[in-house]
Amino acid sequence: MRVQSMLCAVIAASGTFVGGASIGHAQQSGASTNWPVYGGDNDHTHYTTLGQISPTNVTKLKIAWTYATRDEFAGSEMQANPIVIDGVLYATTPKLHVFALDAATGKELWRFDPNNGAPPTSRFRHRGVVVTGDRVIFNYRNRLYAIDRKTGRPIKTFGDSGWVDLRAGLGRPVEGLSVSASSPGVVFENLFIMGSTVPEGLPSAPGDIRAFDVQSGKLMWSFHTIPHPGELGYDTWPTEAWKISGGVNAWSGVTVDAKRAMVFAATGSASYDFYGANRTGDNLYANSVIALDARTGKRVWHYQVLKHDLWDRDLPAAPMLVTVTHNGARVDAVAQITKTGHVWLFDRDKGTPLFPVQDRTMPIVALDGEHPSPTQHFPTLPAPFARQQLTVNDLTQRTPAAHAAALKIFNEYKPSHPFEAPNVTKGTIIYPGVDGGGEWGGPAYDPQTGLLYVNSNEMAWLLKLVPRSDQSLYAATCASCHGDKRQGSAGGPSLLDIASRRSREQIIKIIKEGTGRMPAFGAAMDGGATNDITTYLLTGTDASIGKVNASPFFLKYRTAYFDIFTDHEGYPAVKTPWGTLNAINLNTGKFAWTIPFGEYPKLAAKGVRNTGTDSYGGAIVTENGLLIIAATTYDNKIRAFDKRTGKLLWTGALPAAGNATPSTYMVNGKQYVVIACGGGKNGAPSGGTYVAFALPN
Ligand code: HEC
Repeated sequence: MRVQSMLCAVIAASGTFVGGASIGHAQQSGASTNWPVYGGDNDHTHYTTLGQISPTNVTKLKIAWTYATRDEFAGSEMQANPIVIDGVLYATTPKLHVFALDAATGKELWRFDPNNGAPPTSRFRHRGVVVTGDRVIFNYRNRLYAIDRKTGRPIKTFGDSGWVDLRAGLGRPVEGLSVSASSPGVVFENLFIMGSTVPEGLPSAPGDIRAFDVQSGKLMWSFHTIPHPGELGYDTWPTEAWKISGGVNAWSGVTVDAKRAMVFAATGSASYDFYGANRTGDNLYANSVIALDARTGKRVWHYQVLKHDLWDRDLPAAPMLVTVTHNGARVDAVAQITKTGHVWLFDRDKGTPLFPVQDRTMPIVALDGEHPSPTQHFPTLPAPFARQQLTVNDLTQRTPAAHAAALKIFNEYKPSHPFEAPNVTKGTIIYPGVDGGGEWGGPAYDPQTGLLYVNSNEMAWLLKLVPRSDQSLYAATCASCHGDKRQGSAGGPSLLDIASRRSREQIIKIIKEGTGRMPAFGAAMDGGATNDITTYLLTGTDASIGKVNASPFFLKYRTAYFDIFTDHEGYPAVKTPWGTLNAINLNTGKFAWTIPFGEYPKLAAKGVRNTGTDSYGGAIVTENGLLIIAATTYDNKIRAFDKRTGKLLWTGALPAAGNATPSTYMVNGKQYVVIACGGGKNGAPSGGTYVAFALPN
């Protein structure tokens, strides 16, 4: 194992397309090239030397095969970046079945349902699997599974009997924890290293970065992203926070540098996102890029990009490993995109920013008990790839009525500063929004030119907090994410028609165990309270009025409203572009090009073109000149651009939005580009089809 992975490291250093996940397998055996790990290579650069599809013939691309998972349902998403090894493709469905296909034909080889045919708990956000040796490792709710790569059956020697409980080993009672993982981990030597998805409200779970033995599933090391007593950063929290705080999780995955034996993670905010009176201090290692020794999990360096986050400004994508020319020298670096639209570039060994950093004074007016950080720092280069502040001049001009609708809300929220702390009097506009700027698709990087490619969302978000003086258990406990009237919000789905989907037993189980993003209330609420809330969800009769839960997890304020700022017809309330695609030179920090990205078909039909839209999922970049990306939320397209100029070269139609990162690979001498078409983002229809494109014979 050790020898093979060292070999692997050597190949990786020479720049060939490689990942630890495919240890022992030929990478490029003439007619076959793999996409062996999430994002294509361990660097997460989404770069390929495959060149059969080129700028001159890309217009000839045709659908080679499709695979219908038949698994989509209202609101479902499907975000996997498929893994392809030796002609077999591995990915997941909207209900989180794992499957293997013949990568040349799309014919199903096997399919595994971790839920044994039962309806899944709600929707999932899931970005794919890891294939290593004889196994496929993936996450389903709180379970980390290893299944046989040939048969799709659980490997009984992994964990208890095929899976490991991710709630265990976090130093807290398992019943109170809700942990899952939306993004796949990485393999280094005998270790499977991963981040997690945990609730953004309390009770949450700590976002420990962990390594498990690939063979046995045994926990090998943990890095406490919320430091325990005696650990560096412990003094950036209240003394008891390590026992009850949560979040600070690397939900978008981790990145391994096999040569250096280092693993890099980018973390999200501490929970509860918007009111931090019980987490005073900078909150290390939240909103940080962290470098760890991959063998031991010991910290090598960290850089906190945002102190004491109050706006859900998670670092949204795993760090990307790049080599740049800086002050005339070649420097191995780490590039990190943010939701605020910045690119941070760090020296890979030391963690020092390569471009100068500027400290800026921040407003400190806040709710009682809240202490916003008086300063935050920003990179001076590259310039941000998203607008930084919403002023009245930036409101939509789409139609006079749209402008009036946006202006009315703007005047109600009266934003004063992009970093004003959330309040209860007028609400808060978060811009760039909670979905970026940058998102989980992450950037792509072209080592030849030094260009970083990133798609950016330009949507403002509205946030309203209210005092938690509520006189019902539902209002006090659930409304924060599911809305005051069960109508749903960006924090959680509508529960209005839950009776048509779920039995009483299923709802009680969900409340007790959580879903990964939803907290587990098993330890925070007694059976009577759970019953009362369930009755309310099923019948609309609230037996819990007057009963208020005194759990320590419940803070003085909670979310009352949290959603995208739109006009009266549902379009973004800001001026176009509503989404962009950007090429930024990391050697100079200067933009090469930026273009609007995506369209609303209804507006385009009326001649309102190139508005840009929100997009989720990243690009891939080819040595021979292409930038290939789907990602746009409403126009169901995949596109190929000239990577040097941003000129559109080809558009392919998809059955639903390809909110995922494509993969490219070669089987039997033919190059394919495959994309998961799962839709379901921000009100768009859901889909369940994988589509592969290739040149005709
Ligand atoms: C911090 C946010 C949050 C809070 C608080 C929260 N939920 Fe959820 N809930 C979610 C999310 C998000 C989902 C969707 C599943 C996912 O993405 O993990 C969900 C899913 C559910 C579902 C399944 C919905 C379906 O379509 O099948 C039920 C039922 C539910 N929640 C009930 C509750 C109840 C009852 C409470 C209060 C006791 C509550 N939730 C509190 C975030 C939350």
